[in-house]
Amino acid sequence: MKKKKLSPEIKKFLWDAAEAAATLAYAPYSSFHVGAALLTSEGEIVTGCNVENASYGLTNCAERTAIFRAVAEQKLSRGVAIDAIAVVHRDHQSCTPCGACRQVIHEFGPNTVVLYEYEGERRQTGISALLPETFQL
Ligand code: THU
Repeated sequence: MKKKKLSPEIKKFLWDAAEAAATLAYAPYSSFHVGAALLTSEGEIVTGCNVENASYGLTNCAERTAIFRAVAEQKLSRGVAIDAIAVVHRDHQSCTPCGACRQVIHEFGPNTVVLYEYEGERRQTGISALLPETFQL
């Protein structure tokens, strides 16, 4: 399967959904509010936000919240891919998926398109470019 071509409409929908999700972030420690919105190969859209914890290392990023939620809601599974995922900071600070999230996104790739903001610019790349030679079983 190749990367799917995303229409401008679907991209706008993902950006907007991620931005809305960022307003729901629970980020009392970093005040860095992140939202994510993913599109599955079945056409479902699922959002997530970061959820922090007083034990900092337990924090869950927005991307992983969206992915775990999608699995729990039976919208993502073996055989269903993530075609695209958008990640945005509430106030549009640069935000690319962290290393852990790249690995988790890749689990449902490898052709996932990643939409993110960097230095005030909206950018698009592939998960395999963000995490080459990924660990796989
Ligand atoms: N964070 C995300 O939610 N996604 C990312 O891709 C990078 C970082 C969150 C984790 C933490 O709550 C806050 O941003 C600061 O690191």
